[in-house]
Amino acid sequence: MNILELSRPVTADDAVLWDQNRLLLLDQRRLPHEEVFIHCENALDTAAAITDMVVRGAPAIGVTAAYGVVLTARDAWRQAHSGWKAAMEEDLARLAAARPTAVNLGWAISRMKAVAVTLADEADPQPALLAEARSIHDEDIAANHTLGDLGASLIQRKTCVITHCNAGALATGGYGTALGVIRSAWKAGKLEHVYADETRPWLQGSRLTAWELERDGIPVSLLADGAAAARLAAGGVDWVIVGSDRIAANGDVANKIGTYSLALVARAHGVKVMVAAPTSTIDMNCPTGADIPIETRDPDELLSCGGKRVASPGAGAWNPVFDVTPAALVDAIVTERGIVHAPNAEKMAPHMG
Ligand code: MRU
Repeated sequence: MNILELSRPVTADDAVLWDQNRLLLLDQRRLPHEEVFIHCENALDTAAAITDMVVRGAPAIGVTAAYGVVLTARDAWRQAHSGWKAAMEEDLARLAAARPTAVNLGWAISRMKAVAVTLADEADPQPALLAEARSIHDEDIAANHTLGDLGASLIQRKTCVITHCNAGALATGGYGTALGVIRSAWKAGKLEHVYADETRPWLQGSRLTAWELERDGIPVSLLADGAAAARLAAGGVDWVIVGSDRIAANGDVANKIGTYSLALVARAHGVKVMVAAPTSTIDMNCPTGADIPIETRDPDELLSCGGKRVASPGAGAWNPVFDVTPAALVDAIVTERGIVHAPNAEKMAPHMG
C-alpha cells in the first residue's frame, strides 16, 4: 500500500476513487488534518484498508470491496488465465471477512460474483467487472440523492437535527445517507443547525462529519456523546437522523455504538428518529436485530485517544462498535425506494418487494 496525494483539492466525494486503473482510498484515519490517499494494489491491501478503517461506512465499504474484486480478478487472470475464477476464491473470502456488521460488503461481493460467473473462462474479466463495480458506485450516489430528498421531505419546519457517527459522502459512494438528508434539507431551507455526536472512540463525528459539513457551509456543533439527552431536553431539535450498517427484516437497525441510547432519549423527549440507508443496507436474511453480527474491536481503541493511553493502566474495555436500535424506536426508514413509517416486518417485506 502506497501513500499519495492528489494534484487537485480533495472533496468528501473522493472517499473511494478508481483512478487510472488504480484503487485509491482517502485515508479517513488521518482526516481532518491530512488529506492523503492509500493506493490498494490488490485485494489483500483492500481488505486490510477496510479492517483498519482507512475506508469506513457501510456503503463505502461495499463500493471499495467491489473494486477489490476487480483487483483480485485482474491478478488471478494474469497468474492463472483460464483458471482465474478459482484463483480468486481465497481473496474473495478475505474481502468478505474484512468487517462483519455492514451487510453492504457481502452484498457488493455477491453482485460482483454474479457477474463473474457469467464470464467465459478464457476472457479477460476486468472490463465486465470494472463496469459492475462502477455501477455499484454510481447507483449508490444516485440512491443517496433520492433518499436524501425523500428524507428532507419529512422535515416539516426549519429545525435543528442531531446525527451520530458519519453517514456522509465519506461513508458512501458520495452525497451520504443521513448527511444526504441533511444536505437536501439545508438546500430546501429547512435546516437551522446540525449537532453531531463526537462518536467515541474513532471520533467519526468530530473528525469526519464536522469536516464534511463545514466544507458545505452547513453549521455544525459537536456534542460529547453523553450530551445528546441534555441537548434534546433543551428543545429546538425535531429529528435525530442516522445511517445504518444493516437493517434487519423487521426494521431493527444496526448502527454505530450509541445510536440505541440516542434513539431511547429521542423517544423520551418526543423527538423523531429517521434512519436513512440505501436498500443495499437492508438484509432480509436477518430476521431481527439479534441476528446481526456486531463487531467488537480492540479494547485499546477505547483505552487510548489519538494513540495515547488515557485509561488507568489496569482497566480493560468492552468495545462493541455497533448496537441495535429496535424498530419500535424508529419513526421512519428512508431508502431510495421510499419511506417506511414505523417500520416492522409487515412493512419491510413489500418495501423490498
Ligand atoms: O465504524 P464505521 O465508521 O464504519 O461506522 C459507520 C456507521 O456506523 C455509519 O453510521 C453507517 O455505516 C452508515 S454510513 C452511510
